[in-house]
Amino acid sequence: MDHKEGSYKVRDLGLADAGRLRMEWAETRMPVLKRLREEFSQTKPFEGYRITGCLHVTKETGVLIETFAACGAEVAWSGCNPLSTNDEVAAALAVAGIEIYAWYGMNTEEFYWCIDRTIDKPPHLTLDDGADLIFTVHNRHRHLADTIIGGSEETTTGVHRLRAMADDGKLLYPVYAVNDAETKWDFDNVYGTGQSTLDGILRSTSVLLAGKNFVVAGYGHCGRGVAMRAAGMGANVIVTEVKPTAALKATLEGHRVMTMDQAAEIGQIFVTATGMRDVIRGRHFAKMQDGAIICNTGHYDVELNLQELAEISSDTRMVRPDNREYTLDNGNRIFVLADGRLVNLAAAEGHPSEVMDMSFANQFMAHLNLIRAHESGGDLSPRIIDLPVELDQHIGAIKLETMGLSIDSLTEEQVAYESDYAAGT
Ligand SMILES: NC(=O)c1ccc[n+]([C@@H]2O[C@H](COP(=O)([O-])OP(=O)(O)OC[C@H]3O[C@@H](n4cnc5c(N)ncnc54)[C@H](O)[C@@H]3O)[C@@H](O)[C@H]2O)c1
Repeated sequence: MDHKEGSYKVRDLGLADAGRLRMEWAETRMPVLKRLREEFSQTKPFEGYRITGCLHVTKETGVLIETFAACGAEVAWSGCNPLSTNDEVAAALAVAGIEIYAWYGMNTEEFYWCIDRTIDKPPHLTLDDGADLIFTVHNRHRHLADTIIGGSEETTTGVHRLRAMADDGKLLYPVYAVNDAETKWDFDNVYGTGQSTLDGILRSTSVLLAGKNFVVAGYGHCGRGVAMRAAGMGANVIVTEVKPTAALKATLEGHRVMTMDQAAEIGQIFVTATGMRDVIRGRHFAKMQDGAIICNTGHYDVELNLQELAEISSDTRMVRPDNREYTLDNGNRIFVLADGRLVNLAAAEGHPSEVMDMSFANQFMAHLNLIRAHESGGDLSPRIIDLPVELDQHIGAIKLETMGLSIDSLTEEQVAYESDYAAGT
């Protein structure tokens, strides 16, 4: 492990050149973020501000970190999941002078040690994916909140928890719900998770998807994307849900809907995408066919109850990277990918750069809005803030333009027609 006190702790600085190549590759697919970097690196609006982030250290995150740095920010970073750091990227960032504490395969104690190092020096802004950093500030370092201007949250599970915290009056500073922006939730979670989850499954199994009974638990944004892409590869998709309207959508979009108890008996590949705990548990594992493949793409590793699986297993061994075989007492074998952590990040590279381009443009703008409010005496009361709808359309428009696509715009008559309540048949 390469470690320099107060500066970085990464797996191996010797991986830096490979990490730089990965980031350069990602950058060629991230024109929106690149445009923001070009625009704001002239004026350096983040000069004098320290941004502390806790988000998967991928090549795309590297591009975001360097965009903040190019625009004047002092950045300190840790990964938000023990199995999602790309060690090459972490090394490249450390060599480039970014304060970074992240490596693949850390344990829980090390995970919080890394977060603590990023806030040894008080941050002005926090950036989360799953809210672990913001909870650390609230639970163990409350004094830091006095000088924190605000924060942002990248994912559904984190936003849910922060909304609950705000409703209870416990939130100490404002947080942008980046996840809930249309150019994030409706793209990153759907198409990003859809493709990268299959990527993780394929890298860790190399199985044929066509013809398989492919069970998706949760038909929200992520689950819908996974189901769509699995069906596209020829799998027979089965959906389990707890929300009637989500289950209806799944049915009308051509998938079979049933309970997990029913699906457990016929499924061959299972993916959880719910943000909920114990979605697949002991009694489900006990019903599964020999050879079933199980993984999770929700934020936390609580969706699969692996403790209960271990209790009905007689043996376990790694059969491939990110693929653990459990032999059950009944003789069946079950293969769990990435120890139940987000399979798309642990076993593959996370979302494609093209998708993260828009998600991270939203992150950049959220933090710009926070410092603009700070500098202009704007409202910084503790609450969850949605990104402005116009910003969504602006980011969407830049993305379209960089893809070389043009769309129509409303004429003056059409704009007037839209709000004409006197018009009828
Ligand atoms: N892997 C990734 O890179 C990635 C990317 C984005 C979000 N996420 C995470 O994925 C999870 C889902 O996010 P989302 O945006 O799709 O949320 P969402 O709210 O849009 O959808 C979740 C769905 O799960 C359903 N559900 C809840 N409990 C269930 C249960 N026990 N059985 C079956 N269905 C159940 C809900 O009814 C809902 O329809 C969250 O934890 C989120 O943070 C992961």
